Amino acid sequence: MTLSIRAIDPVSRPFFGGVASGVDITQPLTADQAAAIEKGMDEFGVLVFHDQKLTDETQMVFSRNFGELELATNALQDAKNQRLGAHINDISNLDANSKVLGRDDRRRLFSLGTRLWHSDSSFKVIPAKYSLLSARIIPSKGGNTEFADMRAAYDSLDDETKAECEGLVCEHSQLFSRAQIGFGDFTEEERVKFAPVQQRLIRRHPSTGRKSLYLASHAGTIVGWPMPEARAFLRDLIEHATQRTFVYAHAWKQFDLVMWDNQATMHRGRKFDATEVRDMHRTTVGGLRSTMAEAA
Ligand code: OGA
Ligand code: MN
Repeated sequence: MTLSIRAIDPVSRPFFGGVASGVDITQPLTADQAAAIEKGMDEFGVLVFHDQKLTDETQMVFSRNFGELELATNALQDAKNQRLGAHINDISNLDANSKVLGRDDRRRLFSLGTRLWHSDSSFKVIPAKYSLLSARIIPSKGGNTEFADMRAAYDSLDDETKAECEGLVCEHSQLFSRAQIGFGDFTEEERVKFAPVQQRLIRRHPSTGRKSLYLASHAGTIVGWPMPEARAFLRDLIEHATQRTFVYAHAWKQFDLVMWDNQATMHRGRKFDATEVRDMHRTTVGGLRSTMAEAA
């Protein structure tokens, strides 16, 4: 088997969204394979691997080829009551006993924030590099994940808007993204934990040097701007960046592993029947520095 990576849709999206074949990622990779995958990520931003029966253990081994793993946020679960291990983000609709969460369950309502466009861990001082999401159980329909190419979105801005964005710093917090869906049911302790962090609006990719818009629904204001003006501007930019020409919509098959570069993309989950099980496990490779410390 030789690893090959090609565009999923070479006609309409030749530079965004790739599919890898000829590799079994449940087994240890060679250095050449890992380097080829990293190169594919630089080119396509999102890579799909089909038919990979990963366990949490083999998913962690595969993910560590690309850097250190973040600790899972699983934001509203107390550490003792986690369904999955410390490095596995539980992207499911299940409780600690693997029962489907009730429609009104606070954890479910909080997790509906992933239906808004975002970049993982932009609310952390050092945000995520890659996310790797493994589909263990999928619903009978719906539940796609959509990805937007933030490099193409940046490139297609007019010069005036590029100049306006240059040098701007946003504040990101899960409090901001949840407020957008009307979820404000936070404890004082959670409000402290979710205090906003600063990130540049335009970032330069650490390995390709390409510029992209660094946006997320977690971005709630721009430093030095009145909040309503910042919100309106950020909303315009998100609208621009998520036009269908910049978007790849992934329709999951069981045992797909999709990895994306949070430094160059946004993503969102789509609706599905809340009474069906959707069980996805995510590992997250951490970045090396805050965007504030990246070259402008
Ligand atoms: C994530 C995420 C969306 C989805 O795993 O980070 O946002 O479709 N997932 O589950
Ligand atoms: Mn996410």
